[in-house]
Amino acid sequence: MEFIVSYDIKIFNTLDELSEQFSQLLKNKINAEDKKFNLVLSGGSTPRNLFKYLSVNNKDQINWSKINFFWGDERCVPPDDDQSNFKMANESLLSNINAIEENIFRIKGEDGPVKEAIRYSEIIRKTVPLKNNKPIFDLIMLGLGEDGHTASIFPNQPDLIDDDKICSVAINPTSQQKRITLTGKIINNARNIVFIVTGKKKSQVVADILENKITVKKYPANYIRPVNGNLFWFLDNEAASLLTENN
Ligand code: 6PG
Repeated sequence: MEFIVSYDIKIFNTLDELSEQFSQLLKNKINAEDKKFNLVLSGGSTPRNLFKYLSVNNKDQINWSKINFFWGDERCVPPDDDQSNFKMANESLLSNINAIEENIFRIKGEDGPVKEAIRYSEIIRKTVPLKNNKPIFDLIMLGLGEDGHTASIFPNQPDLIDDDKICSVAINPTSQQKRITLTGKIINNARNIVFIVTGKKKSQVVADILENKITVKKYPANYIRPVNGNLFWFLDNEAASLLTENN
């Protein structure tokens, strides 16, 4: 069933401007309710500088102790591996703010993928409120690959979009690296989804998706359509450079 998704596209001149606006969005959403805030961090390289910005500029402006930290995906590597999304987030954000240790829910990339996907799914089910019998995260950060993948839902594994599991095992088709990823249904159940995409390399895939080009059907990110939530695209000028004026 196709349905129209409304989304909010924000284009920034600099990463600092993008990061500041993201921090404002996060702060407003956290402060809007007196409850734990279930936040999903994205991986890859894009978030690193945003996390560093938050560490320096929002250390005291955001009530980090209200946040439960989860990951949208993780590479099946140990937490001290340079490819680990946890390592990147811990070095650039978590170790620099007063995050509460027991509120950091790391995907154990060092463990067997199938077993860890089950364990992490159970952790989420027990920790995050349910809606439509699925966990409803307050905000999910997502990156975007040049091939249109998001989290670790790659074009050659479209089943992960509608998979009924909370987390599943994925394989990066280029590196054959195993991953643990949230499935598309869980992502789409979130209250807020924020794509954070920067750089010229992403400009074509961004334009394809946001302008619904013919190629878009093969991109998993094209199927990220919140059932009831808000969808934001935070772009820098380079990533937005192929968008036509009417966007
Ligand atoms: C990962 C991410 C992945 C990432 C995109 C963009 O674990 O790699 O979750 O979805 O967000 O591949 O990666 P870059 O930010 O490095 O371009």
